[in-house]
Amino acid sequence: MRDGNASAVYRLQYAPPAFWIDAVELTFDLDPAKTRVLNKMRVRRNPEVAAQALRLDGEELQLARVQVNGAGTSFKIEEDQLVLENLPEGSEPFDLEIFTTCAPEKNTQLSGLYVSNATFFTQCEAQGFRRITYFLDRPDVMASFSVLLRADKARYPVLLSNGNLVESGELADGRHFARWVDPHKKPCYLFALVAGKLVAREQQITSRAGKEHLLQVWVRPGDLGKTEHAMNSLMAAIAWDETRFGLSLDLERFMIVATSDFNMGAMENKGLNVFNTKYVLASPATATDQDFANIEGVVGHEYFHNWTGNRVTCRDWFQLSLKEGLTVFRDQEFSQDMAGSASARATRRIEDVRVLRSAQFPEDAGPMAHPVRPDSYVEINNFYTVTVYEKGAEVVRMQRTLVGGHEGFARGMKLYFERHDGHAVTCDDFAQAMADANPASPLAQHLEAFKRWYSQAGTPRVKAAGHYDADARTYTLTLMQSCPPTPGQPDKLPFVIPLTLGLVGEDGAALPLQLAGEAAAGETQRTLVLHEASQTFTFEGVAQRPVPSLLRSFSAPVILECDYSDAELLTLLAHDADPFNRWEAGQRLLLRVALSSIADSAEQAGATAINGHIPEDIVDALRAVLADPQLDPAFKELVLTLPSEVYIAEQLDEVDPQQVHAAREALRLQLATALQAQWRSAWEQHQDSGAYRPDAASSGRRALAGLALSMLCLAARSSGDTVWPGKAYQRFKIAANMTERLNALGALIVSDHELARPALERFHERFRDDALVLDKWFALQAARPDRGGNVLPAVQALMQHPDFNLKNPNRARSLVFSYCSANPGAFHRRDGAGYAFWAEQVLALDAFNPQVAARLARALDRWKRLAEPYREAARAAIERVAAAPKLSNDVRELVTHALA
Ligand code: PHE
Ligand code: ZN
Repeated sequence: MRDGNASAVYRLQYAPPAFWIDAVELTFDLDPAKTRVLNKMRVRRNPEVAAQALRLDGEELQLARVQVNGAGTSFKIEEDQLVLENLPEGSEPFDLEIFTTCAPEKNTQLSGLYVSNATFFTQCEAQGFRRITYFLDRPDVMASFSVLLRADKARYPVLLSNGNLVESGELADGRHFARWVDPHKKPCYLFALVAGKLVAREQQITSRAGKEHLLQVWVRPGDLGKTEHAMNSLMAAIAWDETRFGLSLDLERFMIVATSDFNMGAMENKGLNVFNTKYVLASPATATDQDFANIEGVVGHEYFHNWTGNRVTCRDWFQLSLKEGLTVFRDQEFSQDMAGSASARATRRIEDVRVLRSAQFPEDAGPMAHPVRPDSYVEINNFYTVTVYEKGAEVVRMQRTLVGGHEGFARGMKLYFERHDGHAVTCDDFAQAMADANPASPLAQHLEAFKRWYSQAGTPRVKAAGHYDADARTYTLTLMQSCPPTPGQPDKLPFVIPLTLGLVGEDGAALPLQLAGEAAAGETQRTLVLHEASQTFTFEGVAQRPVPSLLRSFSAPVILECDYSDAELLTLLAHDADPFNRWEAGQRLLLRVALSSIADSAEQAGATAINGHIPEDIVDALRAVLADPQLDPAFKELVLTLPSEVYIAEQLDEVDPQQVHAAREALRLQLATALQAQWRSAWEQHQDSGAYRPDAASSGRRALAGLALSMLCLAARSSGDTVWPGKAYQRFKIAANMTERLNALGALIVSDHELARPALERFHERFRDDALVLDKWFALQAARPDRGGNVLPAVQALMQHPDFNLKNPNRARSLVFSYCSANPGAFHRRDGAGYAFWAEQVLALDAFNPQVAARLARALDRWKRLAEPYREAARAAIERVAAAPKLSNDVRELVTHALA
């Protein structure tokens, strides 16, 4: 809806539907200009709800006919609802037939039925089905679907929908048909159809249970060669869910279809997943290691939804994290298992935590902060957030920890499916099943308080203070928690926080952990449960002064404050048995240096040239990590990557983004120069990763070689040396795969070398026909380092490039979003021109695709903590958007929160 004045919906106002739709038979006559949809429903009153009118949702539909039990009936249209008052009384089912038309080729929102590259696609989550036909568009109404597709055979040779193909054949006038029946009842948000010229990679598999299944990955004819990795990932995901949770594929056929016009990553429609091409297509020559890893993760994610989301779905959209948090948790576990070694698993964990901290923590501290299970919304599309997804996954992970690990968790999952298979349920139901399956666990003991993770927004802070008594050989740890206010929630009750810890001796030894009053068990790692505002734990028999290694593996999504000395952090960096906390210690050291150089430069008002001043002992420690032959390259790459500008900014009360940028750049330059010898040997050792394989070990080697090359080019920039840029250009030209090619190009770009220009030209020339690679080409230029404000004009010029198209979400993201969200040093200009550009683009996008516009609108969420002159300029830009005469509900809701 375009009028932008829709009102809020509240979780507590949930009421069960007044009618059920048991079965639906849909007939589509597909035509881009005018598609006809015949919708025959078997409807009955819900005996548990007082008799009332039937209100069906519908948007932008042309209504031609309504019939009840084969006869005409009276009806009203009220806003976006079709209201039927004179329906048969009693509990007998009746037939309701509705005939409508819609215009897929005019659908630029990509929600409902739309056309992309002459192919029909649907997107129904969350509320797109109402743009296809009138229906009870809510997830707790589950129906059996039978779908008849009819279309011109030459233009649309492939006709797909959910479930099993039961019939197909020819019609008059060059048309043909296919009938699909889904054996499982489902909510309408899981409906899908696809029609067009597509080809499939096929794979027949036999499950552990001995059943045969057909797997298909459907793409445009030229893309078949790029589907192997997606298919492999799908097979791996199927096997993983069977072994790990005993969950098997419940369909004879499972299809994935790729489209290049898609608002999100992918969609778990029952048996017919629709994917953004970005998360399907990959070849070594065109996709990076990151792309390969993302494909594995997203294919896994959508497949895992088949149980967590589809078999058990959400009662209402406030429960979105029931399926999303749980499914993200599952895909993260899957990716860790696929990575293999303990070190590779830790690397994945670190990457996930980085996302949480640089995207979810800011969300939780800004105007859009909301609980994992929100209490109200205006536009549900605005709540597909990092809080619902990533923090939701942490909430599931904590439950696993609190039921004692994998076995307890598997018991909980089993009970969850026994109780709720085939139903639409709530987050409470999930947590209850976990607790009931593990009655003696800390989760069961603290269930009500634990569930505050679902209801309270904001990132809790845990303050830790330790005291060592050498005479008594005791170590006392006091933990205090608090949570800042968030919109609508001024006061918070304590959270239940699983805190995994170890104690590390100054010599690096892992010390035994024996709480006062316990028998010695020799454990060197355990999980404390913090459930009060403040708790004290005393460990006995502590033979030496320990350094506490707290929140290992990031056991809870909190901010941990602990007054570590540099020496203590260096001990953890060198010795902690927990790789996550080794990395964390390094990040804390670097963060500290960054914050102190920002404080210094703030004192010398206006200074933007900041000298890196990482103390020598920290540089030495990082050098030791980089040179350590025992450590994985992937881990080294993470340790030697500085905290992001967003994460650094989150630590400040008032942010001058240029200062943050300058401070981080100065530290990078210092690391580049001081560790030159080690960067050189890292490059030499890892630059040839052999025949391309996307596994964790070889991508780790490429990642470290890539960082080394960019550091070497950066160091060369300040010394005027041309050898490394020359090597980078050479590597760019002869690279054996896209990861190496892009890393080499990136090295030239970040060091701002003149060879970057010819390299970019060659890159365009070579990949001009590959949309996903062109996206990278745009993104690289939007994210390049700013020199005297040159990035914004370059971005504006690229918007005029013949290959640019704002209507294609991937392309819009590659240029506009990369500039506004991934390049703070260029976006936050003192003259506010970056913000003015942002406002223009939000409005331009909003005119045809509110969902994508709303994502971009979030780029200025944290404007209130900007320093002047940024703050005033940001406010003006947001007000300009808010004042636009026509605004979608999506963008309206966000700017209203931002200005509140
Ligand atoms: N449900 C999808 C997922 O998480 C995301 C999505 C939401 C896609 C809404 C499209 C529209 O896998
Ligand atoms: Zn999902």
